[in-house]
Parts: sequence; C-alpha cells; structure tokens
Amino acid sequence: MMTADDPRILELRALRERARQGGGPERIARHHARGKLTARERLDLLLDPGSFYEFEPFATGRLVDGETFYGDGVVTGYGKIDGRTVFVYSQDFTVLGGSLGEAQARKICRVMDLALSDGAPIIGLIDSGGARIQEGVHSLGGYGEIFRRNTKCSGVVPQISVMLGPCAGGAAYSPAVTDLIIMVERRSFMFITGPDVIKEVTGETIDLEGLGGAYVHMAISGACHLTAPDDQTALALCRLALSYLPSNNTENPPFVPTDDDPLRADEELNRIVPLDPGKAYRMHDVVERVVDHGSWLELQPMWAMNAITGWARMGGRSVGIVAQEPSVMAGVIDIDASDKIARFVRTCDCFNIPLVTFVDSPGFLPGIDQEHRGIIRHGAKVLYAYAEATVPKISIVTRKAYGGAYIVMSSKSLGGDISFAWPSAEVAVMGADGAVNLLYRDQIASAPDPAAERARLAREYERKFNNPYHAAAAGFFDDVIEPRETRARVIAALDALRDKSVAPPPRRHGNMPV
Ligand code: HXC
Repeated sequence: MMTADDPRILELRALRERARQGGGPERIARHHARGKLTARERLDLLLDPGSFYEFEPFATGRLVDGETFYGDGVVTGYGKIDGRTVFVYSQDFTVLGGSLGEAQARKICRVMDLALSDGAPIIGLIDSGGARIQEGVHSLGGYGEIFRRNTKCSGVVPQISVMLGPCAGGAAYSPAVTDLIIMVERRSFMFITGPDVIKEVTGETIDLEGLGGAYVHMAISGACHLTAPDDQTALALCRLALSYLPSNNTENPPFVPTDDDPLRADEELNRIVPLDPGKAYRMHDVVERVVDHGSWLELQPMWAMNAITGWARMGGRSVGIVAQEPSVMAGVIDIDASDKIARFVRTCDCFNIPLVTFVDSPGFLPGIDQEHRGIIRHGAKVLYAYAEATVPKISIVTRKAYGGAYIVMSSKSLGGDISFAWPSAEVAVMGADGAVNLLYRDQIASAPDPAAERARLAREYERKFNNPYHAAAAGFFDDVIEPRETRARVIAALDALRDKSVAPPPRRHGNMPV
C-alpha cells in the first residue's frame, strides 16, 4: 500500500509541482509584472471552480538548448463552463514564449479530437510566439495538424480563441479559423510577422500595438469580435459568449429563463423612426428595446459600424441579430459590412441560432473604390449566406429597403421565413431622385420648369413607394405591424418556427464566393 510519505508519491507530487512552474519562478514573476496571468491562473478563472482535469502534464518536447519543460508550453484538458463540458488549451508564455513545438501541437490536437468526438466546444487561450524556431519543420507540421482540425471542427463544435499575449504566425492563423476571437487591450497582439521582420523586409517601422493590437483588429482589420481591458474580463466574456451557443451543431443553445414579458409592448418604438426620411435614428436602440432585457451582446462593435451583428435572447432563446445602423453612413452596405454580415449569418446558421434581421439601408455603397475592390464579390457573400442559412429567418423592415439591400437582407424571395414591415417601411429599386432622373430624363428636360417638374415627379414616386403597402399587397411582407408590437410578434414567429427543418441538397459543399 502506498502511504503519503511513500517516495513514489513524493516524486509524483514533486514532478507535478515542477510541471506547474512552467518556465520557472523568474519567468512567472516577469509575466505577472506585465499584468498577465499564467496559463493555469487563466484556466482557473475560465472554468467552473474545481472542474479542470489536465492531460499530459509530464509531456516534454524536443530538447531546446539542452533544456526541456514539462507540459511543453501548454496546459490542456477539460472542464466545465456553467456546468457544460468544454475542452481547453492554455499556452504558457513562460516556456519558450508559448511557442508551438511538436509535443505542444500533439497535446492541442488531442483536445481538439476529443472535443469533436464528444461534441463539446474548444476554447484556446492563446499566448504564443508561433512556430517554435528551434523545432523547425516539426513545429510547422504541428500547425498544419491544428489548422486541419480547426477546419474539421468548424460548424460542428464552437471554437473560441482568447488572445492574451503576442500571437504570431500560426498563433494568429489558427484563431482566424475559429468562430470568435476575444483580445485583451494593450497586452495581446496578432500578426503574421512581427515588427522586426517587417522592418527588415519592407523598411516600415511600427510597434506591436500599432501593428496588431486589439484596437487594430477591432476597428481596422475586423479580425477580432470582442475586446477586454484585462485577462479577467476577457475570460468572463468568453464564458458569456458561450451562453449563446450550443455545445455542438446537433443541439440548440441553452434556454436562459427571463422575467422580461414576451408580450411587452414598447410605445417608444412607435415614435423612433423620424417622419423626415433624411433624419437618422439609432437601430441599436431598436434592438435593445426588442430583445430580452440585458441579453444583447454586440460583436465587432467598432468595425463596419454601418452594420450591426450580435447575439441576444428573445423569450429566453438565443437569436442572432443582424441590422443596419442608419446613423452610420445611412446604413449603406459596403465591403466590410458585407463581410461582417455574411460571416455572422453563417456562424449562427452553423449553431442553430435563428436570425432576426432589422433592415434600414439605402442599398450597396456606390463608388469606384468599392467596385474596384470587389463589392460584387463581397456583397455576394451576404446573399449567399442568407440564402444558404436554414435556421429560422425573420426580418423587420423598419424604413429603407432599397434595391440590393431589400433583397439580400433576409427577404422572402431569398428564403426568409417571416417578413414584417413597419408602417415607415419604404421598398423600392432606388431612391426617388435617382429613379426620377433615370425614368423621366426627357420629360424633365423639356418641362418649362425642369426643377419643379423633377420635384413633382419625385413626390409622386415617394407617394407610391414610401410605404410598405404595395409590397404587402404583392405578398412580400407577411404583415405590416406597429413597431411597439415587434417583440411579441418576433417571439411568436420564433416559437412557430422552432421545429423548422430543411434537408440540404446532396452535394459536397457549396462554393461560397470568398
Ligand atoms: C522559439 C520563441 C519564439 C519562437 C518567442 N520565443 N517566440 N522561442 N520560437 N517562435 C521565446 C524568446 O526567445 C524568449 O525566450 C521568450 O520566448 C519570450 O520572448 P521575447 O521576445 O523576450 O518576448 P517579447 O519581447 O514579449 O516578444 C514576443 C514576440 C517575439 C513578439 C512574440 O518573441 C517574437 O517576435 N517572436 C517571433 C515571432 C515569429 O515570427 N514567430 C514565427 C511565426 S511563423 P527566453 O528564453 O528569453 O524566455 C509561424 C509559422 C506558421 O508561426 C504559419 C502558418 C501559416
């Protein structure tokens, strides 16, 4: 029988303690001094208390300068978040900068394989200098194995990446395949090559923050979905995000009871759209008034701000909200907004999250720059994503739904299930000025007072199209509703569509324009 002072038990404990020390007390102290938590401290915060079990703490990598480290720079295992199983890996920057060697890659692949077969989410806490230089092709091969699994898991189990330090090369590409990226401000960075290499290759000088800080990826590149001021908040956001997602693609997201009355009417909504069509209002206010109180989690709030994407709950059930923000660029759809919307629609569709779309857009953004940069290719992603999505799709046209913006944003002809319009809805191929100039060019030119004639024709056009009833008469809307009743009508529609099922056609996969 082994006793507590048995040398074999003491050895195990000593080895475990050594493994817990990662790169050693000095490097841990340096790490803490930078305001960062260790890989294990992060897991403690992420997971339900006492739920974490580790794999392979004694794994060692290839010898680097005569030194090996237990765990090889990553802590892997499984635990629970709000009682649900998740598989996790947490890179340890104190061991060779969290760089990925052969053993680290094997450990990460193992949790990914188990997550896939178990149907549980994968959460990566990323803090890594990328491929471990000393292990050459073995570390490159390791990333190949991880990318392959990222892709295989895509659309099967949720994958969330929390960026907690400088993440280079593969440490940025693997997260890019995942469903959600959360970055810590001023401490996490993502780039393919760091400032030193850039200086050498292109001669450009830039620091880590300017190259790939949280602000860059939140506001400029669109690579990041959420940011947080510190590790603690980032990990709390990860737990929160998971509450909107199912464990895998065969399940529904968790039901979260709410005391917000599903029939709650909101009188303010009846007044929110200004009578003057040139005046803006905030669609964010509409969204927040319609969804369950306190359930709104906006994604990518600082990128392509003319479009809104995020998760919320309605009647306790997760929904994906897509909308235009008329107070930013009049809610026009440009290249970035197209990418933002298309990716989000597909994320929701993967994970059985119904889509609720609020439409107020004058259309796709005209212009040489947009055309030359490929608005056709990018805009096509939006219509593809909506047409492809088989989750329940409900839309509400609050004001403008002109041209392409009407069609692509969950219209019935594109496969939308239930479409509502507010009385302020306007559906037309284009705005009055553009249409009148095109249709009545000769008539306007030959009129005694061309300006007055143009204004008269524009008023006539607006009388005809600046209301939802011509579209409702043709069956393009299921109903015209009072804005105040939007919440009740959407929840009832979601309820009616809960068992929606669509059999996809047999094919290998579609060929989405990317
Ligand atoms: C081995 C590495 C490493 C790496 C960092 N370290 N990156 N060791 N391989 N890739 C080690 C350092 O030697 C150091 O060891 C410790 O980690 C901390 O690194 P520092 O440079 O002191 O930290 P910091 O100043 O914070 O800078 C972090 C950094 C920088 C920005 C990440 O280390 C860096 O630029 N590293 C290289 C990044 C890179 O180019 N990686 C390859 C990407 S290519 P000691 O012993 O002093 O603690 C790639 C291929 C896949 O990933 C591509 C797929 C398409």
